[in-house]
Amino acid sequence: MRVVVEEDTEAASRWAAWQIAELVRRKPDAVLGLATGGTPIRCYGELIRLHREEGLDFSRVRTFNLDEYVGLAGDHPQSYRCFMNEHLFGQINIPLENTHVPSGTEDDYDRFCEAYEDAIRAAGGIDLQLLGIGRDGHIAFNEPGSSLASRTRLKALTQETIDDNARFFNDADQVPVLAVTMGVGTILDAAQCLLLAVGAGKASAIRMAVEGPVTSQVTASALQLHRQATVVLDEEAAAWLQRREYYDRSERARRARLSP
Ligand code: PGA
Repeated sequence: MRVVVEEDTEAASRWAAWQIAELVRRKPDAVLGLATGGTPIRCYGELIRLHREEGLDFSRVRTFNLDEYVGLAGDHPQSYRCFMNEHLFGQINIPLENTHVPSGTEDDYDRFCEAYEDAIRAAGGIDLQLLGIGRDGHIAFNEPGSSLASRTRLKALTQETIDDNARFFNDADQVPVLAVTMGVGTILDAAQCLLLAVGAGKASAIRMAVEGPVTSQVTASALQLHRQATVVLDEEAAAWLQRREYYDRSERARRARLSP
């Protein structure tokens, strides 16, 4: 697992965006796995800037989002479809038909989840999956106890996640209690995983995910099993890491090797 610590939130977000931009330049029809929440907003802001100022072209990119609240239609202001249209898709040149966000209003979720997995496979699989992390160590809505082999399915949210997400709603009672989410196994199938975490509130989860045991109680720890997983952090999110000095040394060595 590669651990990159940048000096602040802006720098960590930019670094994540540059990884995505580099992939899109190299592979214009890349398949991106995307995330919602407070964390990726600055990263998406940088992608929008690169599109506007440097002509980063998204016209052939395809995207699959991690999750959606069950019960919210795509035009609900708190739906993740709405979030993505507002914070990214509506501000770059990606055709909306190339973007996939799980539907929050299906009757038959067994069928829907299978079709979502099929669509990812038919697109050739995800080249790069962007991830956030919950305070309980979840990735997507794979709450503690989720199987590390899980696929796209419905998941009940924990009270901690409901409370954390209440800030986006008028009150906690309005936060849906169910979500449709890619599974940990779905996420691990991506060719590359990039987890972005910022702020002191994530320091404990990052410590568990990066340096703790691989466990279904901290689903982000499954990234330790992935061949190409990178965790990019600001100083606050990295504050509890015990092996910080080593990560920095590894990163300096990697950058020295890559520079001419
Ligand atoms: P956040 O959520 O970016 O809003 O902190 C991350 C997550 O729960 O995965």
